[in-house]
Amino acid sequence: MTMDKKRRPIGVFDSGVGGISVLRELRRALPNEQFIYYGDGINAPYGVKTTEEVIALSKAAAEYLLSFDVKAIVIACNTATAASHAALSACCPVPVIGIEPAVALANTMRKDGKVLAMATPGTIKSERFANILREHGEFCIPMPCGGLMEFVERGEVDSPALHAYFDELLKDCKNEKIDVAVMGCTHYPFVKEALKAHLPEGALFVDGSMKTLQQLKEALEKENLFADEESQGGVALYSSAGEDSIRLMQMLLDMP
Ligand code: DGL
Repeated sequence: MTMDKKRRPIGVFDSGVGGISVLRELRRALPNEQFIYYGDGINAPYGVKTTEEVIALSKAAAEYLLSFDVKAIVIACNTATAASHAALSACCPVPVIGIEPAVALANTMRKDGKVLAMATPGTIKSERFANILREHGEFCIPMPCGGLMEFVERGEVDSPALHAYFDELLKDCKNEKIDVAVMGCTHYPFVKEALKAHLPEGALFVDGSMKTLQQLKEALEKENLFADEESQGGVALYSSAGEDSIRLMQMLLDMP
């Protein structure tokens, strides 16, 4: 019985391809685990939807993952975590771990400048983010980035249009000394290279994936659910947005 429990896959979901930035860290750290990734691209973006809409979509995504008999669920979407982590934890029969903007970590890396917290409008407006800011936000500039995830969904990670987007987005921070940029949406690590050109040289980048990994490990450890060392790990990709989206996920997963 215990063997079977340990062999069950780990479910990971996002509104689209962004959660692949989390999945690749999880896979690297847990090579014996099987992962089922679900990108809800047909309903993306989540970041401009109401809390109720995101809760409903997150519940549907979790149900889909539970149909694979997953042993844990990782919400690889900051927006969905902010809206639905409590609701999913209450209704799922397995541990639910959610990613959130790494403002606290960024604060520890800050020198004498500011922390730029980039996230979806939904995350920035959320109560969960307000709580993070209350504790760690003294030097933080919250930056809602409506429209940015769509570049990644199109596979556009470096283009004139993306640079024009960053120019416009960051025009009011030109004179700020940004020490650390928080990638508070799981799509954003994929546009980090393009973003570098728009921030002060030497600015650092952080995201919440390592904390998420840590929390997943703790949950697996607590319930004795780690796959055995001889187990063959792997990834299966699913999308509500069809084959093109799955191809893009695979490409992003293989990106160095
Ligand atoms: N990748 C998601 C996040 O981490 C959200 C993108 C969206 O659907 O707006 O917040």
